[in-house]
Amino acid sequence: MSDQNPNLRSDESPDRIMDLHQSVMREQEEPTDGLTSSPVLFLLGCFFLAGWCGYYIGTNSGNWEGNVFNEKIGSGAAAAAPSAPQDPMVLGKELFGNCLQCHKENGMGLPGEFPPLVASEFVTGDSRRLTGILLRGLKGELTVNGAKYNGEMPAWRDAFNDEEIAALATYIRNTWGNKAPPVSKELVASTRKELAEQSGSWVAETLAAWAATAPPVPAPAAAPAPTGAAPPPGK
Ligand code: HEC
Repeated sequence: MSDQNPNLRSDESPDRIMDLHQSVMREQEEPTDGLTSSPVLFLLGCFFLAGWCGYYIGTNSGNWEGNVFNEKIGSGAAAAAPSAPQDPMVLGKELFGNCLQCHKENGMGLPGEFPPLVASEFVTGDSRRLTGILLRGLKGELTVNGAKYNGEMPAWRDAFNDEEIAALATYIRNTWGNKAPPVSKELVASTRKELAEQSGSWVAETLAAWAATAPPVPAPAAAPAPTGAAPPPGK
């Protein structure tokens, strides 16, 4: 007893410990001294990866600008000129969304219900009369391109400002093959003033009578000479 390590239990005699470790030593490699060569392929792989990462960041970083949407852009010049003056044709097209429901995308309206804007004398003719229609609305019997209508178009004077009415008029005068000079917002402003006292919509007769009168101010530059007689009276 005295030559035995007092910390060992009886079944942990030195022999038995040697036995146990034998198998471990057999199965695990002895560590050796010195350097082993790094796996060349692994190193090459690392270099390739690092190079590729550099290339990827270089071409896709978007100059590290937070506001660059397209990360492949070359310089920060991406967000150019957001506030160019509004083109009336663009604004008019946008606002025409309010007219689509009745006059339709192709401007042809609906036979018997909504008159066409295409090739309509009301659209391409006297710009003051067109402005008046848009500002005050129009109802009752009306003949457009030889076909009779009897509907009601809302007034737009409260919905749109002068610039917007001018853009709408300019847009419908120059779309679907229509071709007529643009309508200025000055004309809309003076027509709006002229009609300020009048309430309710036009009917064909009141519209024709008003259009035949000279505007109070000398005709603005944008108003073309009336291209024809007043439209055929409603009845
Ligand atoms: C609710 C349907 C409706 C909407 C929306 C509408 N219109 Fe009309 N529009 C009519 C009707 C109906 C007439 C014919 C009125 C009549 O019979 O007296 C008309 C007549 C016209 C006319 C004169 C006749 C012609 O065909 O040339 C013009 C110009 C016109 N609309 C432009 C517009 C514009 C521009 C808009 C959009 C801002 C618009 N309309 C929105 C129903 C509508």
